[in-house]
Amino acid sequence: MNSLTAFGVLVVFGVNLATSDAAVMRKDNLYGPRYRPLWEKGAKTQFTKNFSPTSLKSMTEKAGFIYENFKLTTEDGYLINLNRIINPDSVNKKDKGFPLLLMNGFMMHSDAWVVQKEMDSNIAFVFAALGYDVWLGDQRGTIRSTGHVNMSSDAHNQKYWDHAFDEISVYDTSAFIDFILVQTGYRKLNFMCISLGCTFHAVLISERPQYNDKILAAFYFVPLVNNIARVMDMPVTLQLNFLIGEINTVSYEDQGIYVIAPRLSGIKKEIYHGCIPFAGVAVSLVKQSLHGALHFPPETVCHLSALSIGGGSTKTAKQILQVYKEANFAKFDYGRKRNMELYGQEAPPFYNVSRITSFVAIYYSDADGFSTVEVRGK
Ligand SMILES: *[C@@H]1O[C@H](CO)[C@@H](O)[C@H](O)[C@H]1NC(C)=O
Ligand SMILES: *[C@@H]1O[C@H](CO)[C@@H](O)[C@H](O)[C@H]1NC(C)=O
Repeated sequence: MNSLTAFGVLVVFGVNLATSDAAVMRKDNLYGPRYRPLWEKGAKTQFTKNFSPTSLKSMTEKAGFIYENFKLTTEDGYLINLNRIINPDSVNKKDKGFPLLLMNGFMMHSDAWVVQKEMDSNIAFVFAALGYDVWLGDQRGTIRSTGHVNMSSDAHNQKYWDHAFDEISVYDTSAFIDFILVQTGYRKLNFMCISLGCTFHAVLISERPQYNDKILAAFYFVPLVNNIARVMDMPVTLQLNFLIGEINTVSYEDQGIYVIAPRLSGIKKEIYHGCIPFAGVAVSLVKQSLHGALHFPPETVCHLSALSIGGGSTKTAKQILQVYKEANFAKFDYGRKRNMELYGQEAPPFYNVSRITSFVAIYYSDADGFSTVEVRGK
């Protein structure tokens, strides 16, 4: 996979890397003198070279916070990574503040929450500075979450990669929430998400409504939930993205590869170096495909993309393509015969989002062609 294809993948699913730009809270430095900007003069080179699984740790520490991580085992045996950002003021306190879980989007991992040039645009740091206990979940299949109790995550091992957002939502997201509540002693937490991360919340609660009681409030940014637009109704520039996505996914599986972007550390460097000469083009492409709705600073777009990309299964990509095809927020479609065996009906069942009774705030934009303002009541 060349770097432009990799970049294409990011663009295809409208991974809105600049979302957290919307969170610019105020102009002055919220953090006080202790916290240093990530992009101060001279620090830039050091920052950009670091595209490793430990980038999140080094960026967190560089910003003046303390980093912790935990390995959890899900009900179905996946070993997943949960990150915590601790405010130095609360390091010795038992109560580190009200817990906030952040979940990233498709093909991303937790680093996506801390890569903005302006410190105040990095939601994870903003809330840690404000006194929240901030946790960032790396869903299965992303760069720090590739273990399993008895399966290898080799790109050709279809069994390991045989998961889509159906499984990530129910198993990984519940594991993150339960672990955080036990660890902190709080009875509820707040949940914040970008894009597919919001799918995880909606699917989990639809499948296990008891999680309503564990979440005080959820904040959706560009969610991929019941507001998805049908590909057919989208402008041609957006439709093209789905075609490219489908071709990419099929060509991976034809080669017996079940993960998008295998060998990710190398690919991150490729994305970065491949993107740099085309940064201006990349920005205008993304802007065009999202109707100018984004504010990507061209000088940072390559860093943002390379650091944010975390990987994912081809099956997750297929499920996203499926839900957009008819704008059905439903379980994975295996075809009539297998659907009948699994679900007892020919078409995959819709997720029943009316089971979400806890508070949800949805942030959306009229210019977002991937979503509709109307939330469907299917
Ligand atoms: C692998 O682990 C899973 C989850 O713990 C379990 O359900 C399964 O039976 C195990 N398979 C083998 C072959 O041990
Ligand atoms: C969806 O959930 C609601 C609330 O639990 C229930 O009343 C309704 O019957 C469910 N709808 C379907 C189609 O299962």
